[in-house]
Amino acid sequence: MKIKTKRSKRKLGLPAAIILCSLFFLAGFYSSIFFPHDVPVTIPRLRMLEVAEGDHDTKPHGLTGEASVESIPFQVLSWKPRALYFPKFATPEQCESIIKMVESKLKPSTLALRKGETAESTKGTRTSSGSFVSGSEDETGTLDFIEKKIAKATMIPQSHGEAFNILRYEIGQKYDSHYDVFNPDEYGPQSSQRAASFLLYLSNVEEGGETMFPFENGSGVSPGFDYKQCVGLKVKPRQGDGLLFYSLFPNGTIDPTSLHGSCPVIKGVKWVATKWIRDQIWTTDE
Ligand SMILES: *[C@@H]1O[C@H](CO)[C@@H](O)[C@H](O)[C@H]1NC(C)=O
Ligand SMILES: *[C@@H]1O[C@H](CO)[C@@H](O)[C@H](O)[C@H]1NC(C)=O
Repeated sequence: MKIKTKRSKRKLGLPAAIILCSLFFLAGFYSSIFFPHDVPVTIPRLRMLEVAEGDHDTKPHGLTGEASVESIPFQVLSWKPRALYFPKFATPEQCESIIKMVESKLKPSTLALRKGETAESTKGTRTSSGSFVSGSEDETGTLDFIEKKIAKATMIPQSHGEAFNILRYEIGQKYDSHYDVFNPDEYGPQSSQRAASFLLYLSNVEEGGETMFPFENGSGVSPGFDYKQCVGLKVKPRQGDGLLFYSLFPNGTIDPTSLHGSCPVIKGVKWVATKWIRDQIWTTDE
């Protein structure tokens, strides 16, 4: 009985297979004639991306790789300028300890002057108070921890960072739009450049105090622009959050849309730790 069934299956199978093959051939043949461009292209997705998008599962390090595995969430804010946002980059305790560290050492913030400018002619451009502290000067290790985390997030080594400039903006205080990068046309030849800036917001500000990029998406890049306006892409400070933006394009030239400023504080106090990241190892703290 078994053999018979098999045979009958084979007998039925052979013509069916021939018919099916012919159908598939004809379907393929005609579709290639009538829909020559309709071939679906599937691009395989990278496994690492799928993992990263999912549950923040991480890949185990290799035998020779770095042992630390951590996830640093970020959000792309803008491509012009290239700006990234890092929610909860530091803890509230870390932020408070940084404020305590410098509170008694604040001095009025100064400006790097262009050719022909004087302290008097630039008065009112930058009205915050601040203090410079590097990771190595902080015995609690908080600043060193933050510096290392910034280095990981940017993949630019810690040695490229200037000391933190920790700033306090009280009501009405602001910083008009400016570049962190020093254009050699205005400041003379530079031995190294500020390639990127990382701002760590140390306090919540009730109103005002946003970091603004007036030339967002390239709009408004014009000679008649009013540098005192608070316009464009505005980032509201939130304690512990980080903002990273690049002042240089990948080819090393200055990104005009990296112009930025600090809107006047309307209510509350703004505390921010600024880390300027150089394109070369930074040895002197100025
Ligand atoms: C800037 O460009 C991005 C991406 O094209 C767009 O989503 C955003 O709305 C633009 N912003 C402005 C203010 O035009
Ligand atoms: C550098 O890159 C920017 C942005 O992609 C581009 O607009 C500019 O023309 C480039 N400059 C040079 C000298 O390659």
